[in-house]
Amino acid sequence: NKNIVILISGSGSNLQSFIDSIKNQQLDASIAAVISNKADAYGLQRATQNQIPTHVIEHGAFETREAFDKQLAQTIEQYQPRLVVLAGFMRILSPTFVNIFHGRLLNIHPSLLPKYPGLHTHQRALDSQDEYHGSSVHFVTEELDGGPIIAQARLKLATFSEPESLQKAVQQLEHQLYPKVAAWFLGEQITMKDNGVYFESKKLEQPIVI
Ligand code: GAR
Repeated sequence: NKNIVILISGSGSNLQSFIDSIKNQQLDASIAAVISNKADAYGLQRATQNQIPTHVIEHGAFETREAFDKQLAQTIEQYQPRLVVLAGFMRILSPTFVNIFHGRLLNIHPSLLPKYPGLHTHQRALDSQDEYHGSSVHFVTEELDGGPIIAQARLKLATFSEPESLQKAVQQLEHQLYPKVAAWFLGEQITMKDNGVYFESKKLEQPIVI
């Protein structure tokens, strides 16, 4: 089973990188479904153009986070995915949801975690005049943006002064990074155990930098 379900909230450029990587055979996987919590997410069109089933589950239609998460989990589970990919999915997930998909739920976050969990990461990196900025792919745990980090892509910050251009450059890196990590996972090279990441059975002492 190489089925992936991808969760989005917006443009879906990372989703597109998965579609492209599968097409050019860099990623041996099948996107079983794309789910958005926003009806107007452009990524839904990308999915439809590629004959991928889509679902919209609007969080506003649910009274509690738990009720939304339950509907989300049920929708995902009908595809029996090996891997669930958060790709610009801008909702915090409840512990119950995270536990259902424990060990097979990945997120990409636009910072060099553990720096800058949360929002406005590009502006915060600029404000801090860091040497490097970038993006991280990690296993999702109950802690927001806090799960064990698998891999990071980074760039030198010195040439950037605007968060917009920085975000663009980081996203270019993400489009290389995320499908690569998914390929490792589906190839059973990467697993999570006891809140650590194992690459070919060896514990990673630090994230892989690509
Ligand atoms: C990506 O840059 C991703 O790192 C970020 O949202 C963007 C989605 O872009 N994710 C987060 O901020 C998660 N907290 P996309 O819709 O074009 O893939």
